[in-house]
Formats: sequence, C-alpha cells, structure tokens
Amino acid sequence: MLNITGSPVEGDNFFGREEELGRLRRALEAGNHVLLLGPRRVGKSSLVAEISRLLSNDGWSVVTLDVQHVADEAAFLHELLDSLKRSDVELPVLTHIEGAVTAFRRMFRGTRVKGAGIEINIGDEPADWETAAGELRKLIPTLSGNARRMMIAVDELPVFLSKLLAESDGVERVRRMLDWLRSIRQACGTSLPWLLCGSIGLDSFVDRHSLSSTINELQPQTIGAFDEETAVQCLHRLANSAPYTLHLTADVAREMIQRVGWPIPYYLQLMFHALVELPQAQRSQSYPAVADIEAAYQTLLGPHHRSHFAHWDSRLGDLLNPQELNRVRTILKHLCGLPEGSEHGVLLNVLAAESPHADTRALDRELRDLLEFLERDGYLIRIGDTFAFRSFLLRDYWKKRFA
Ligand SMILES: Nc1ncnc2c1ncn2[C@@H]1O[C@H](COP(=O)(O)OP(=O)(O)OP(=O)(O)O)[C@@H](O)[C@H]1O
Ligand SMILES: [Mg+2]
Repeated sequence: MLNITGSPVEGDNFFGREEELGRLRRALEAGNHVLLLGPRRVGKSSLVAEISRLLSNDGWSVVTLDVQHVADEAAFLHELLDSLKRSDVELPVLTHIEGAVTAFRRMFRGTRVKGAGIEINIGDEPADWETAAGELRKLIPTLSGNARRMMIAVDELPVFLSKLLAESDGVERVRRMLDWLRSIRQACGTSLPWLLCGSIGLDSFVDRHSLSSTINELQPQTIGAFDEETAVQCLHRLANSAPYTLHLTADVAREMIQRVGWPIPYYLQLMFHALVELPQAQRSQSYPAVADIEAAYQTLLGPHHRSHFAHWDSRLGDLLNPQELNRVRTILKHLCGLPEGSEHGVLLNVLAAESPHADTRALDRELRDLLEFLERDGYLIRIGDTFAFRSFLLRDYWKKRFA
C-alpha cells in the first residue's frame, strides 16, 4: 500500500471499506442508480474507482467519467461519448451520433464567438441540443442489451453544474441537463445502473436550486470516516508497506488519530507522510514515538502543505453565492479559534454584528441552512446546539490561514 495523498486510490492502495463496497455492489447488481454522498475528501472517488475495478474483474463493462473540467453542455456530451469509446463497451457504428455531437459543439462555440464577428459554418448537419442529446439518449439504454453487465459512473457532476449555473439562463440549462440525465437513467431501467458522486453533494446542490425532483429516483448511499480500529490498522498497513518499514506502536498510531481529530483516510495518509518524512533533526531519541506526533502535525500546518487543504477553501466558492460565502467565512473564522465550538445563538450574534440591518429571522434561517451545509460537507460537527470544526487539522489550518 503506497502513501498517496491526493489522487483517488484503488487496488493494493485502497484500504478497508468492505462494508461500503458490499453495499454498493448489492445496490448496483440489483440495478439501482446510486448517489454516493459523504464529506469532502472522505474517499468517495476512491470508493468508485475500487468498485469499478472489482466489477470490471467480474466481467462488467464500466464507463467512468470525471466532468470537473467540463465547461458546457456540448463538452459534456463530447466527454460522455469519449468515455464510452474509451471503455470496452461494444458500440454500434457511431458516425451519426458523433456528427450530431460535433455539430452541436461547433454551433455552441460558434454562438459564443459570434459577437467577435467570427463566422462559423455549421454545414447541413442538425446542430442543436435536442438532436445531439437525443441521439445519446437513444444509444445508451441499448448498450445494456449486450451480454456483459454495464455501469456508468460520473464524478464531479455538481462542479460542472455549478459552472453552468453561472452562465446566462443557468438554472434552466441545469434543469435541462438534469432532466435529460434522469430520462436516460429511466430508459436504462435496472439493466444499466448509474453511480454519481462529487466533492460537492448533488443533494445539497439540487436542494439549493429547487431541483430535487430531477434526482429523486437515485438511491443515496453514504461514506464516512474510519472507526478507530480501522484507522489504526490502516496506519499499520502503511507503516509495513514498502518503501517504509516503520515500527509503529498502537500508542503512536492512536496518538496520530487523536491529533488529527477525525480519522478520514486522507488525514491518516497526511499524518503518516508527515511522520515518516519528519526531518532527522526534529526526531526524538525513540522515533517514531508519541513525542514525534506533535512535530509531524506542525509540519502539516506549514506553507508547503497548504495545497492539501486549499480544496476545502476553494470548493466553498463553487457552491455558495458571494453573500453566503461571506457568511460562511465569518462562521468558520469565528469557530477556528474555539475548539469547543459555539452555540447556534452565538453564531447568529456573530453574523448579526456583521450585518446589523439584516432581518434577524431571515438571518436565522440562512444560518440554519449554512450550518447544515457545513455539517453535511464535513467542515463542522454538531453536538446538541453546538457547532465545532470536525477535524483539528482543518481547524488549525483555518486558524493559521484566515484568523
Ligand atoms: N480507501 C482508502 N484507502 C487509503 N487511502 C484512501 C482511501 N480513500 C481515500 N484515501 C485517501 O484520501 C485521499 C482522497 O480520496 P478521494 O479523492 O477518493 O476522496 P473524495 O471524497 O473523492 O474527495 P473530494 O471530496 O475532494 O472529491 C486519497 O488521495 C487518499 O490519500
Ligand atoms: Mg472525489
């Protein structure tokens, strides 16, 4: 098992998650369309990569696409078509579908550059969304008629939808995209399941834009942190895998878990990396010992490790409008200095102090929504009426960076 901090992992580098894999497999084998939900960086893409690998080993055809860099509908259709071609699915001759998608793409780009006076010749091909998207809607459900079982996994759909939302007629375009995807899933029935996930929850996204009906047939499945025993085993596995042979006692492993405060595999990999690469000069006599954990933890808070947490910051801007973003930043800035957290009422006062003219009831409603979002995405934990940073590591990063 390699010490990987960032990219999704699978195979020998994928640890644990037997229960989640079993649940996911049963759902997909029964033909359910699944929405995988979990806090940021918890290991969703890795779980999708691993189940895809396992199903492929069992003879399934698995089509995977990551649409985080897709900018518009035309690029989305193109990406979907491309991922079908990259997979081992037996495809019919696609000439007319490719023609429709390409024509739509050219026309689409054309409408965008027309203002600059550039003429686009789209020829005689039909070049609209209905034609291009309709061709794919017809094609995809027929693919499940092949002898091999098939699955389509889409990662980062909400990131793409957020970009679309910011365009003109954004809400309508997002609705059209979600309706179209739903109609394909319906046509696929139980013979071709879809698996969706993303670093922004699709459930939060549709909730916020009153589009819940476009995904209400998806079966939600959740993934959370490791329990303590699994986290200890994961650290031991890392310590005993080449190129490292680190003698990690159970006490040291538990101290690492205590220190990060929330054992998602990403933080364990980060802590392990920090410990194993701790400069000689900073190591204790009995390295690796409990005494070394604090030094390792502090290196993670240094400037070189910012990129590991920047994601938590930047994804906020993908989902929230500027006013919500300001409020969330105020909440997080307030909470990063308070390990024990703050009560809802205190947070309301903090927001009210920044917006003295806001209607208190409206502000209270807004706060509730934002806290729910922060809890769902793994920034905060709620205990009774008190909210606090879920991970000590993220809290200390936030404090260092923004307080
Ligand atoms: N099962 C696992 N075994 C070992 N490490 C894991 C596992 N799952 C996740 N990780 C660690 O967490 C990191 C992030 O994993 P992944 O990209 O799957 O998370 P994610 O939930 O998709 O994140 P995001 O919310 O940013 O999309 C990986 O680079 C790896 O360090
Ligand atoms: Mg991911």
